Amino acid sequence: MNKQKIVEEAKEMMKVFLTEAKQYIEASFEKELRIETKSSRNDLVTEVDQYIEALFTRYLKQYFPSHRIFGEENAEHKVESLEGAVWIIDPIDGTLNFVEQKRDFAISIALYMDGIGEYGIVYDVEKDDLYVGEKGKGATLNGREIRRVSDRRGVADSLLIVNLSAVNLYPKLKEAIRVSCGLRLYGAASLEFMAVATGRAGAYLAANLAPWDVAASKIIAEELGCIVSRLSGEEIDMLEKGTSVVALPKVYQELQNLYLKK
Ligand code: 2AM
Ligand code: CA
Repeated sequence: MNKQKIVEEAKEMMKVFLTEAKQYIEASFEKELRIETKSSRNDLVTEVDQYIEALFTRYLKQYFPSHRIFGEENAEHKVESLEGAVWIIDPIDGTLNFVEQKRDFAISIALYMDGIGEYGIVYDVEKDDLYVGEKGKGATLNGREIRRVSDRRGVADSLLIVNLSAVNLYPKLKEAIRVSCGLRLYGAASLEFMAVATGRAGAYLAANLAPWDVAASKIIAEELGCIVSRLSGEEIDMLEKGTSVVALPKVYQELQNLYLKK
């Protein structure tokens, strides 16, 4: 099957999967959740995260039995290379928001083929907002094309989204925040990426993100003209955890030149 055909079929699969996922998540709001902690007190997983990933795995087996899956929760395959078709999924990004607020969380799913991000979706379940990016074809929000980001806006004309962990690594970011229009934090990496990709913020910077936190968002943000990399300026390796920045082009240059130097 050629790449175009795969993406077309992936869209069909996503439609049915997301409808079912949304129904399940909304029903879960009505009952008490079983919540477990993972690496720390704030690193949570619920039965919903696990169910959604398992549901996606079932759809994938039906539509693309040969594709591999790399996910936050039960991930079927131990993925050590991005050769061939690999799906990278975070069934619930922003689990703490999901548990505490029942909003500002998203399903994030990407298809990488031979290491290249070909198709990515970020679905804000509570708002019912679906962001889709397709390599070389731009990005849409609920089916409408999203405009490319401004290449004239700099730090001084932008809101910044900066995790404290990034400030700890690069203390000069405090100065960038002071120069900017102000600081915002939402607590779900994929939605913070979408805030930049749709021009609502100039940059998002974070330390310690996993591949599934950024895999889909990176495809969408780059299609809209944003720059995405590690805070050091290096390219993101989709098999490793690490820092991330997504920014409008001019904001990115200013951050690298002035605020991300050690
Ligand atoms: P999660 O909800 O899927 O865990 C919160 O600032 C953002 O960072 C969320 O996108 C959250 O994703 C992610 N995050 C929190 N703890 C993390 C960890 N230990 N490793 C990777 N990402 C993490
Ligand atoms: Ca998650």
